[in-house]
Order: sequence, then structure tokens, then C-alpha cells
Amino acid sequence: MQNIFVTGGAGFIGCNYVRLLLEKHPNYRVIVFDKLTYAGRLENLQDVAAVYADRYTFVQGDICDAQMVEATIQQHDVDTIVNFAAETHVDRSILEPDAFVKTDVFGTYTLLEAARKLGNLRYHQISTDEVYGHIEGDQRSEEGDKLHPRSPYSASKASADHFVHAYHITYGLPITISRGANNIGPYQYPEKVVPLFVTNALNDQRLPVYGDGKQMRDYQYVVDHCEGIDLILHKGEIGEVYNVGTGQEMTNLEMVEILLDELGKPRSLIQHVEDRQGHDRRYCMDVRKIMALGWEPSHTPEEAIRATVRWYVDNRWWWEPIRSGEFRQYYERVYGNRKVLA
Ligand code: NAD
Ligand code: DAU
Repeated sequence: MQNIFVTGGAGFIGCNYVRLLLEKHPNYRVIVFDKLTYAGRLENLQDVAAVYADRYTFVQGDICDAQMVEATIQQHDVDTIVNFAAETHVDRSILEPDAFVKTDVFGTYTLLEAARKLGNLRYHQISTDEVYGHIEGDQRSEEGDKLHPRSPYSASKASADHFVHAYHITYGLPITISRGANNIGPYQYPEKVVPLFVTNALNDQRLPVYGDGKQMRDYQYVVDHCEGIDLILHKGEIGEVYNVGTGQEMTNLEMVEILLDELGKPRSLIQHVEDRQGHDRRYCMDVRKIMALGWEPSHTPEEAIRATVRWYVDNRWWWEPIRSGEFRQYYERVYGNRKVLA
């Protein structure tokens, strides 16, 4: 395995993974294939382009474009595909599901077809704990559980997982799938809750907590997730699914309190607002299968939140221009008329 095609590599998790891949495997070449939507940003990879110029190539393209995908794979003699490319924000999927079906479902199918036609390439799919849907009580999702997606985003991701699995069963494509819990860390677009709240707080703006804020999430550090993906790519059993997360959960309100504490900002910035439609109350995964492969996270959720806060404090150059562009119209659309709860 030497020539790795990383789709969505200019996004949040993708760019962290590209860094890890190039650092960890000095004999690998990485071809990032990314459409550069609002979430894909070349500045996420500017250091990579400078340090690894001889082993790193960037190609702007859409994973739904079969011709371009196949031509790029052939041109660079690709032997492995790792698919991060997706529309990823639940709130945007509620507003406009169309792009989610196109990229997350049809785009995945396009990559699978290319992998099959061009010599049964090794294929790894980046999936999410959201495909399991809301998890009751103190239960944990296991890899063999039935999928119960409840948002247009998670329905698209679950559909993609089914296609990936079907290509393994039908055509013998050598696939693996990882299902990650909530990632936080450097380069996450500030529509997602942790960077949104850090950057709002740094601007002394209110933090719009959906509903009662007692929803449970497993906030994992993005680099830990990337280590897990790399392990699965190299040591995972073909045809298998692996959950990746800390296995520790906290409420959104607990997350906000840690975040404000790290910033030294007052709790009065918290503002409860109308809940997200169809909001999944709790995700929680059983992560014993990936731990048995030899992985464990280096950060607890609290350490991950504190490290993320410090990155945003130190990297205003990265997020200030974002918050002054397309993001403003998006923010107005989602939060402008949102009911404030008493
Ligand atoms: P992101 O939104 O930050 O990045 C997505 C990237 O995909 C961007 O660079 C974008 O330009 C690119 N892209 C979008 N449509 C494309 C297309 N049609 N063709 C080519 N490129 C396209 O997302 P992220 O948070 O880094 O998520 C990456 C992957 O991880 C996604 O598959 C997501 O479902 C999954 N995931 C995310 C999390 C999380 O907490 N962020 C957790 C588990 C799984
Ligand atoms: O669980 C993995 C998933 O995590 C990924 O598959 C998705 O791509 C990623 O976006 C993320 O989805 P969530 O919906 O969990 O993340 P988000 O950051 O949007 O929200 C996290 C929690 O915070 C959720 O319970 C909703 C809440 N929230 C979010 C926003 C944006 C708020 O209370 N207020 C907000 O303004």
C-alpha cells in the first residue's frame, strides 16, 4: 500500500488524517481529492503542502464525477481509497438534504464503482455513530446493531454504509468501515458546536444551547480518531466495522461549562434556544472491538475540549475570516429567528 487517495482531505478530520498519514508512513504518497465546498479549505493543508511537497498532491474534484475520480486514480496509480468526503452538518441536512444524498450516497457509490473497476482497491469508509440513532438508557451501540438513522445526514451516511458492505459481499471489495463519535480539535468549521461556542464566547456572543442541553455526546479528540482509522486501515479485518470513540459521555451543558471555564468566560453567556428538529438525545458506543486491535484514546473528552479551546484561542488567523464570510448568512438562517427559551 503506497498511493493513498484521501477524499475530503481538505476538511476537518481529513486534513488531520493526511498529516498523520504522511508523518507516520514515510513511503506513502497521498493524493487529496476534494471539491472544496464551504467546509473544505486549502489553508487546512498549507503546512502539509510545504513540508511534504514530494509526496503530497492536491486535486480539486467531486466524488460524484466518475470520470474524474477514475482518471485521477489511474494517473496516480492509487491502491487505497479512504473516503472522508461528505456533507457533514446535521442542521444543514435539515435545511437542505439534497447535497447530502448526492455526496454521501451517490458519491460513495461512485468511489466504490471506481474501486471495483480499477482492480479491487482497498477501501475504507469513514462513518459515524449517528447511523445507530438515539440510544436509550445506559445501552451502547455495538458494530452488529441494526441502523436507525433519524436525520437526513445520518440516513445518507447509513445508506453509504450499506453500499460499502454490499460491495464487499457482492464483489469481494476489500473494505472496512469506522464509525466515529463526535470529533473536536484543530480546523473544525465553526458551525459545529464546540468551535461555534468557543468562537462565539471569544466574541462575547451568546452560546445557543439547543433545548435543555442534556443531550449526551462522546467528544473525542480528532487525532485520536485519526490514529484509530489508521490502525483499522492497516490491521482491521476486511469486511468489518469498528466503532471509534472514548466510550465516555457527557451532556452538552457539561461540555459548555468546561469550555467556558477554560476560556475564563461567564456562564451567563449560555442561552437555551429552540431544540433541533428530531434531535438525537444520546449516542454512546461500545468501543471494545477497536481497543482489542490495540487502540486507545490519548485524551479524555474533557482534555479534548480544553485542547480544542486553546487551539481556537491561538489560531484566530484561521477562523476569523471564515466567520466573516458564507458563515454569516448561515448563522442568520439557523439562529436568526430561533425562539429563545425561558
Ligand atoms: P467536513 O465538513 O469538515 O469536511 C468534509 C470535506 O469533504 C470538505 O473538505 C469538503 O470540501 C469535502 N467534500 C464535500 N463534498 C464533496 C464532494 N462531493 N466531493 C469531494 N469532496 C467533497 O467534515 P468532517 O467533520 O471532517 O467529516 C469527515 C468525515 O467524517 C465525514 O464522512 C463525516 O460524516 C465523518 N464523521 C465526522 C464526525 C465529526 O464529528 N466531525 C464524526 C464521525 C464521522
Ligand atoms: O456523532 C458524530 C457526528 O458528530 C458526525 O457524524 C457529524 O458529522 C458531526 O457534525 C457531529 O454531529 P452532531 O449533530 O452531534 O454535532 P454538532 O456539533 O452539530 O452538535 C453537537 C451537539 O450540540 C448536539 O447535541 C446538538 C448540540 N448543539 C449544536 C449546535 C450547532 C447545540 O446545542 N447548539 C448548537 O448551536
